[in-house]
Amino acid sequence: MTLWAGRLEGGPAEALWAFTASLDVDRRMAADDVAGSRAHVRGLARGGLLSPADEAALLAALDTVAAELAAGSFVFAATDEDVHTAVERRVTELAGPVGGRLHTGRSRNDQVATDLRLWAKRELTGVGRRALALQEVLLQRAAAALEDGTYVPGYTHLQRAQPVLLAHHLLAHGWALARDVDRLVDTRRRLDVSPLGAGALAGSSLPLDPVGTAADLGFAGAFDNSLDAVSDRDFVAEALFDLALLGVHLSRIGEEVVLWSSAEFGFLRLDDAWATGSSMLPQKKNPDVAELARGKAGRLIGHLTGILVTLKGLPLAYNRDLQEDKEPLFDAVDQVNLALAALAGLLATATFDAVRMAAAADAPESAAAAVDLAEWLVAAGMPFRDAHHVVAGLVRDAGAGRGTLAELVAAHPDLGPEAVPLLEPGAAVRRRTTAGGAGPAPVAAQLAHFGDRLTLDRGRLGG
Ligand code: ARG
Repeated sequence: MTLWAGRLEGGPAEALWAFTASLDVDRRMAADDVAGSRAHVRGLARGGLLSPADEAALLAALDTVAAELAAGSFVFAATDEDVHTAVERRVTELAGPVGGRLHTGRSRNDQVATDLRLWAKRELTGVGRRALALQEVLLQRAAAALEDGTYVPGYTHLQRAQPVLLAHHLLAHGWALARDVDRLVDTRRRLDVSPLGAGALAGSSLPLDPVGTAADLGFAGAFDNSLDAVSDRDFVAEALFDLALLGVHLSRIGEEVVLWSSAEFGFLRLDDAWATGSSMLPQKKNPDVAELARGKAGRLIGHLTGILVTLKGLPLAYNRDLQEDKEPLFDAVDQVNLALAALAGLLATATFDAVRMAAAADAPESAAAAVDLAEWLVAAGMPFRDAHHVVAGLVRDAGAGRGTLAELVAAHPDLGPEAVPLLEPGAAVRRRTTAGGAGPAPVAAQLAHFGDRLTLDRGRLGG
């Protein structure tokens, strides 16, 4: 039985029901719906709209509903249009006619907005904690790599540019995730407003208590405008942006894992538990986790685009279009959580091949010290543009087989034998000394700073 059957003759058409019912999706908010209903009941009682006995009967029925949901024994009915209908139906079965008082002064419009904000507040916190867990893996791997002095070619245009400490490279991904956590916390703060009491769109003639129910539910405050309260889904769009960008960051990590685990790079070996095989090629060991981390970004970006298009052009206030908010949000949270956990496991167990990394960084064709040679000339007074030209010529000559770079440097009048140690393996990394740079001293400082940031964020996420 729908909540709105009174106005219409006969039952709903089958295809209408199939198209409009949302229970399969919104049942995930059942516990939040019960929480919102409890607060609403207490608010009605404070306003004298429920006798103490009626209040107690409704709260007891809601307790039973909560217990049934937690135990998995709650039975949804084929006639439950959505989770709100299901909870109200069950409360009425349990409590009798007083169940008919539960929806006093309330609409599913303020109810669903309340439920979804409660859900998002909790679940975005959960995503943030999983992001932190991945950051902790990056921190640990970076700390160990710093200790070992492991370095790797740094790239621009995917061409070897300057060597960097592996720790520096890992922490670069860590800082991107730190911004993601910051955004999630920020979105959580902005969505922390209760819409309960807005009614269908205009508030009520009855003595509701929106401020009291907001506090009861743990919201930071209540709505200022009932039209805005029931139609605002900015928080869904924001959350989907946060998750899409987080997904883009995971995609970039995934891409590097794919590259680095290839025979061509050979910088990283996956643990067997975090690799997949091929159904046909017996020898294959594939990085499917990393590929899916990369691939999921597509649907996350799609979800963000979808909600923005749904919201665009909607007249105030509630429109059924808004029902399209939940599926993308739920899916985005699920997919990001899965990707975060899988990448954390993959990165915690992968083996970095420091020898291969160093060999690539120190290979003659990498000319890792080229800018150091130019900076040597600058330190001796030469304008940088001239120094750049000199070194470029030496690299060109070495590439053409007119001697090794070391021989050419030793023979050059402005460089000479004292400049040759710049070409020693790893020297170019050790010489990166500026704050935030890729060498041992700044990376040690960065590592400590990153650890402090994780401690701070753990506090903000209450984990
Ligand atoms: N399932 C609906 C949604 O998600 C609940 C609100 C329905 N409100 C209404 N006036 N039909 O938006």
